Amino acid sequence: MRSVNSSVPGWKTGGTVVAVLMILRALGPAGSWAQEPAQSRIEEETSKQKKIYESRGADVPGGYITNRGLSDYAGLLPSGFCDVLSRLDTSRRWLDIGAGAGQAILDYYAPPDPAAPAEKCALPGGLASAVAMSIEDRRTAAWHQLAASLGERIRYLTGKSLRHYSLEELGKFQMITDVYGGFSYTDDLSRFMEKVLSLLEVGGGFYTIVQHVHLDAAKDGPASWYQTELVDAAGGNEKVCSWLKKITCVKVGCESKSAWEPPTEQINIRKVCSDVSVPRMKLLKFEAGNPPGRRFQLEP
Ligand SMILES: C[S@@+](CC[C@H](N)C(=O)[O-])C[C@H]1O[C@@H](n2cnc3c(N)ncnc32)[C@H](O)[C@@H]1O
Repeated sequence: MRSVNSSVPGWKTGGTVVAVLMILRALGPAGSWAQEPAQSRIEEETSKQKKIYESRGADVPGGYITNRGLSDYAGLLPSGFCDVLSRLDTSRRWLDIGAGAGQAILDYYAPPDPAAPAEKCALPGGLASAVAMSIEDRRTAAWHQLAASLGERIRYLTGKSLRHYSLEELGKFQMITDVYGGFSYTDDLSRFMEKVLSLLEVGGGFYTIVQHVHLDAAKDGPASWYQTELVDAAGGNEKVCSWLKKITCVKVGCESKSAWEPPTEQINIRKVCSDVSVPRMKLLKFEAGNPPGRRFQLEP
């Protein structure tokens, strides 16, 4: 009887090699065909997403809100946001990623209102310089008017997403905010975080929120559904906060708002040193929306 090993030399014979190559060839494209629908689906959804950004007037989908003011930011972002913003002096810079119409920055520069309650972010009238970033241009007449009077102190960047800007173009910031902006909309979460952290000064803070995720400090209810879902390399559940806590050189604070509708994670990230490394997340699923549905998997 032939042993298994004794058959191995036979694989080296020309005819067998040709037969094996033919089988591999036949199997190869089938493997990539299996991935093609997922990739072409993502591309289809990405172009639907582009239409949401480009929508105007009555075509803007309900829920795609682009004019939240500073008091909305104060209510949505983690506690401490207003306090830190109020302490930025003229040498500091604030970047708002996904600024929409830039209303929060307009409010920051409005004359101080001593009668405004603290939770409304009553500030000393805009000292730091501010950059609003939005893929699509949603500037209003009010923005153009303020920009004309403030000159270089405020800038509005539009026409591309965060990943397409270089550090040289943008410079560094003490504060970066994101209210239903790139963090909720990007199809490349790890690259997005890498870029944010490269733009942040050591000691600076990133403030954001994300809705319908596995919350850090709350049990998932039986009816929970996830708009942004992260899984680990083995396919098990990964929370957005547990992933963020794997980034080096940052201190991550998460405030889980399980009673909010929708349930939301408030996230505050402080950069504590410069050797940042972000564990990579691969996109598995993307469905256009406001915000889009996304599923990512941690790469081994
Ligand atoms: C729903 S609006 C939110 C606007 C504003 N923050 C507000 O709360 O009113 C989404 C904004 O995020 C922007 N956006 C989405 N992904 C982005 C990315 N990767 N880089 C920069 N801006 C992005 C859109 O262009 C838009 O300005």
